[in-house]
Amino acid sequence: MIFYGVLFTVLVASGVNIQYYINSHVPDGCERIHNEFIAKQTTNFTYADVTDCYKSFPLDKDVASKTIDTLTGLMGGFYSFLDKAKESPQPGFDFKAMDLIAELDLFRNKSYTTLYDFTIDVEHLFNDLKDAHTNFGSICFTTFAFYTNMTFYSVVNDGEQKIKVFSDTIDRSNIDCEVTHIDGQKAFQVISEYAKNSVYASRDLGVRFNIALDFTYTVTSFAVRYEIPKKPDITYTLKCNNSNEFDVKRNWVAFSSRTFLNKFNDSKSYFDNFCNPIKGNRQLISTNYKFQEITNIFNSANNLLIEQDQSITRIAVVDNFVGFYQMDDFGVIKILTEHPTVLSNAILDSVIAGFKRLANTGVKKVVLDLSDNLGGYLSIIIFFNLLLFPNTYPSFDFDIRISEQMRLAITEQFKRATKSNIFDMKGYVNAKTYANFTSANDFFGNNVYTRGGVIGNYSNKHTLMNDSINEISQYIQNLTTPVTWKPENYIILTNGLCGSACAFIAQHAVEFNNVTTVAVGGIASNISLSYSSFPGGSVINSTQMFDSLGKLGLLSNNLMPKPLPLTGMSLTFPINEVYSKMNPDEILEFAFKPANFRLFYDEKNIRNITILWSQAAALIGSNR
Ligand SMILES: *[C@@H]1O[C@H](CO)[C@@H](O)[C@H](O)[C@H]1NC(C)=O
Ligand SMILES: *[C@@H]1O[C@H](CO)[C@@H](O)[C@H](O)[C@H]1NC(C)=O
Ligand SMILES: *[C@@H]1O[C@H](CO)[C@@H](O)[C@H](O)[C@H]1NC(C)=O
Ligand SMILES: *[C@@H]1O[C@H](CO)[C@@H](O)[C@H](O)[C@H]1NC(C)=O
Ligand SMILES: *[C@@H]1O[C@H](CO)[C@@H](O)[C@H](O)[C@H]1NC(C)=O
Ligand SMILES: *[C@@H]1O[C@H](CO)[C@@H](O)[C@H](O)[C@H]1NC(C)=O
Ligand SMILES: *[C@@H]1O[C@H](CO)[C@@H](O)[C@H](O)[C@H]1NC(C)=O
Ligand SMILES: *[C@@H]1O[C@H](CO)[C@@H](O)[C@H](O)[C@H]1NC(C)=O
Ligand SMILES: *[C@@H]1O[C@H](CO)[C@@H](O)[C@H](O)[C@H]1NC(C)=O
Ligand SMILES: *[C@@H]1O[C@H](CO)[C@@H](O)[C@H](O)[C@H]1NC(C)=O
Ligand SMILES: *[C@@H]1O[C@H](CO)[C@@H](O)[C@H](O)[C@H]1NC(C)=O
Ligand SMILES: *[C@@H]1O[C@H](CO)[C@@H](O)[C@H](O)[C@H]1NC(C)=O
Repeated sequence: MIFYGVLFTVLVASGVNIQYYINSHVPDGCERIHNEFIAKQTTNFTYADVTDCYKSFPLDKDVASKTIDTLTGLMGGFYSFLDKAKESPQPGFDFKAMDLIAELDLFRNKSYTTLYDFTIDVEHLFNDLKDAHTNFGSICFTTFAFYTNMTFYSVVNDGEQKIKVFSDTIDRSNIDCEVTHIDGQKAFQVISEYAKNSVYASRDLGVRFNIALDFTYTVTSFAVRYEIPKKPDITYTLKCNNSNEFDVKRNWVAFSSRTFLNKFNDSKSYFDNFCNPIKGNRQLISTNYKFQEITNIFNSANNLLIEQDQSITRIAVVDNFVGFYQMDDFGVIKILTEHPTVLSNAILDSVIAGFKRLANTGVKKVVLDLSDNLGGYLSIIIFFNLLLFPNTYPSFDFDIRISEQMRLAITEQFKRATKSNIFDMKGYVNAKTYANFTSANDFFGNNVYTRGGVIGNYSNKHTLMNDSINEISQYIQNLTTPVTWKPENYIILTNGLCGSACAFIAQHAVEFNNVTTVAVGGIASNISLSYSSFPGGSVINSTQMFDSLGKLGLLSNNLMPKPLPLTGMSLTFPINEVYSKMNPDEILEFAFKPANFRLFYDEKNIRNITILWSQAAALIGSNR
């Protein structure tokens, strides 16, 4: 399948806990960390150690200005939503409309003492876009995650939204206590502000609130974060069993993994291995999936114990990908990711077999749980869309903002036909005629749109070649007898964190098949909550961009950006736009799509997902 490599995903991770060692006679924080790691074999460190390590690299002015040059070059030349991002949000969304290039230029006149402060400030600017695909950062500052051994959830009681303790591995008697205040401020307010300002993986504030409290560690949250917290400790005011309030003061502890800790012994080696690694070394640590090593530390504590629950029958589980369950009179399909670690025909066969087995139980209703999904492969989107709804077209239409740089790169790729190039458009056909593009100009067309007050050129709309869709569709047909479920027998359940490829699956089900949706959680005073987030476009990173430009001989072209000055830095962003089919002018990334129904978390369903599934199933067939 030729679209295996095309990614619609966002790869983020998170991290960890506390410890106190006085090693303070050693001024180099990175060296202190190394010493403790060797002496005590510990993987958790103090706030002071990690802060001193991270802040030990002074900012080189040349690095700063080259970084800004590269970022403005990449965004100006290739970011699909550069001009669209200047428009104010649709009602229901919450983000700052901005001229990203102008904002980046402001950094040229700011002065910073450390590389950390500069990097984090630039990262924040990108986060303000609230475009989960578009991130700047450095591996240099994501090797530790901060944690206080507590996680949280939110319930609505008598119209009042409260924060409660989900887990506390230090003092279990705190579990389920209400958190009334955090550092003296109302807890709900603190979490809401964190969601508004620090969480970026959705344009919907309610979804960001869910992410702030997410304890599956698919993304950073209020409780588990990469960025150095403002101060070394945090005080939670708890109220348990209607007794008096009391304070729990916790230090932030920084966790890492042995893979990282084995790679440095002082700040110089830290810098050389993480902030500016040479090519060979970089491979070992570059993929974001490595962070799962850290993430796994937390997961063990909070796993949802579906396996042991008597109320549910496990029909089939394709590891770390899809689960099929039966409860009472309904079935559940739980998709965990669109980015399975192994993507093979055998894996897809197992999914089809599970689907068939669930159908054979005779259940008439199906809950499709798409919560906490960060996306994956285009081929997986097509696969699920065809599996669930074989009679509807499985994809949306794309286009590309044609800047001077984009025009040059695509034109060169048409001429040279290099392999694995992000500028390769050969797999796509004209969305109106389904004809192959015969030349670069045929691909570009002459569409001029005004976005954010800027007149820009946009390519012809394109879609997937019938051959590639047919390949997947025939594959599915060979293996399934048609199932009896109709679109009205399904309900899609999410916490809004159904992004990228997941959003494609959810929005396809809704737009093409009128499937009902229910979203759980969010901020109670906001009536609507999105069932998916950041459909975006296909996402690429700066490494792929420069590799592709290199293959086209364009690296030294004056129009093109130069690679980032430190190899630990990286930028990801989407290079195309995705449109609704029914409303052909609607760019999905900027269209607010609330769920038909809303559920809230409570003390029971937060720990027992089968309750939530039953609540969702009860809505199937009811009036929206
Ligand atoms: C840090 O890790 C050590 C074991 O490696 C453990 O004994 C200690 O409790 C941890 N500290 C905290 C605060 O979790
Ligand atoms: C930076 O400062 C210089 C002079 O101090 C000024 O001319 C220039 O306009 C400033 N640039 C930005 C982007 O603010
Ligand atoms: C805190 O959480 C970490 C990660 O789950 C765990 O390894 C550690 O033992 C916990 N610390 C304490 C003191 O319970
Ligand atoms: C609150 O009550 C529950 C049982 O009702 C008990 O397990 C828990 O320890 C109590 N918490 C506190 C802080 O007293
Ligand atoms: C750190 O490790 C490098 C090799 O990885 C070694 O050359 C150097 O001597 C070590 N430094 C210290 C302080 O142990
Ligand atoms: C960039 O993307 C490629 C292809 O998906 C991946 O192999 C590589 O690890 C990514 N690099 C970074 C720095 O994330
Ligand atoms: C379109 O291009 C594909 C390969 O890119 C080729 O297999 C197919 O035959 C072409 N179709 C037509 C009608 O030229
Ligand atoms: C759009 O493309 C035309 C050439 O096809 C070019 O003359 C014009 O400058 C482009 N406009 C923009 C805003 O890039
Ligand atoms: C491709 O598929 C579309 C939609 O299913 C169909 O309308 C069209 O006729 C097909 N085109 C070709 C060339 O097969
Ligand atoms: C599906 O079945 C057809 C006809 O039996 C066969 O020609 C084709 O190779 C099969 N495709 C796959 C992907 O198994
Ligand atoms: C979608 O479903 C709703 C409720 O079942 C119904 O009112 C509406 O007409 C349907 N829309 C379409 C386009 O089928
Ligand atoms: C979860 O809730 C179901 C009802 O939906 C109940 O039958 C089951 O016992 C509960 N499981 C646990 C572990 O409490």
